[in-house]
Amino acid sequence: MRTQSEAVHARACKVIPGGVNSPVRSFKGLGIPPMIVESGAGDTIRDVDGNKYIDYCLSWGPLILGHAHPKVVAAACEQMGKGSSFGIATEVEEKMATKIVSLLPSIEKIRMVNSGTEATMTAMRLARGYTEKHKIIKFTGHYHGHSDSLLIQAGSGVRSINPIATSKGVNPAVIADTICFPFNDFNAVRSFFHTNPLGMETAGVILEPVTGNMGVVTPEKGFLEMLREETSRVGALLIFDEVITGFRVGLKGAQGKYLIDPDLTCLGKVIGGGFPVAAVGGKAKIMDCLAPLGQVYQAGTLSGNPVAIRAGLETLYCIEEPGFYEALFEKTRRLTQPIIEAIERKQANACLQRAGSMFTLFFGVKKVRCKEDLKSLNEELFARFFRYLFERGVYIPPSSNEAWFLSSVHTDAHIDFTADCIVKFIEMYA
Ligand SMILES: Cc1ncc(COP(=O)(O)O)c(C=O)c1O
Repeated sequence: MRTQSEAVHARACKVIPGGVNSPVRSFKGLGIPPMIVESGAGDTIRDVDGNKYIDYCLSWGPLILGHAHPKVVAAACEQMGKGSSFGIATEVEEKMATKIVSLLPSIEKIRMVNSGTEATMTAMRLARGYTEKHKIIKFTGHYHGHSDSLLIQAGSGVRSINPIATSKGVNPAVIADTICFPFNDFNAVRSFFHTNPLGMETAGVILEPVTGNMGVVTPEKGFLEMLREETSRVGALLIFDEVITGFRVGLKGAQGKYLIDPDLTCLGKVIGGGFPVAAVGGKAKIMDCLAPLGQVYQAGTLSGNPVAIRAGLETLYCIEEPGFYEALFEKTRRLTQPIIEAIERKQANACLQRAGSMFTLFFGVKKVRCKEDLKSLNEELFARFFRYLFERGVYIPPSSNEAWFLSSVHTDAHIDFTADCIVKFIEMYA
């Protein structure tokens, strides 16, 4: 029964476009009205009709400690009692910056912002301001938020809009400086930097080092190293968008996993502990181009908001506890291994791709290396799969090409129940 959810959604549609404040929440193409959530605790969310769901979307990644973690709640509440916003520097911002700088060696200085979109937008401006060049390279299927210059050939919700996955209203002159290549395409990138004069005009190469926004896709051996080498050679910045992967694929993010030293890193999601926090950080000589020291402008009324930062910092304290990631990855293995085995047993046209505590189960394809491989995705089967799990109280990201996430509080019983449901689905339908 979802009568309340349907009623709220119908009312919301009258006053909010599509009834949602972000398009991916709309359950588009799934044949059922979207969820209207009422609360969350641990690994479970509850809708306004009282139905409970084990949550593998976790607010699209941030909630690595699950919903309403007591330490995060306590930290945020304590700060709220002291005042929630000042528009003046606070000590907790210094603590947060110091913590991230100590955890990620490539980051010498960091600026906190409110969303991943702001982080990547600022990184673009910094890259251009620092190098005094204009071209930006991105990869098809990678999503870096919804700022104009990066909204082309994007993944996540943008992929379904039109063939070049951009948005109406984006000035073509703005995206004219953005050049796209398929992820993991060594030849395209190398030949661009070696034979195209625009290679020398490149300010930065931005990428999701492990992609989450076309489902989980890992870089092929040597790809990140090649990008590091080529960008250094032509004097362009290498920008890792670790909004998803930061503190998700390990304590040192994708850069720690693959041992790459990017010039700039964008963070978000986990560092906010469920609050609107993101950041851009990197080499001091680049970061010092930002105002007030330099002439690259960036600002924000609520940037470094102390309530949000307290919640994020508490999250970082929890995840740096010894054994945290080992336990989280073991939970992820516990869920994914039976699924991988079921795919093999059934010889299903499907695959599961994983990095740390994020993974995607793709239907209709045996391997995904880049966005172009998504053409054969079986959307109909995914819609059926989503509804199958939803009816059994399991909530996964409502799209065929998104990352699923585990938290440290997913119980073994819930994980085993979920794996069992998925294995049965594969045996019956895949
Ligand atoms: C890799 C990546 N970069 C940037 C963003 C944009 O972040 P936000 O939605 O906070 O603006 C996202 C959002 O999902 C993302 O996954």
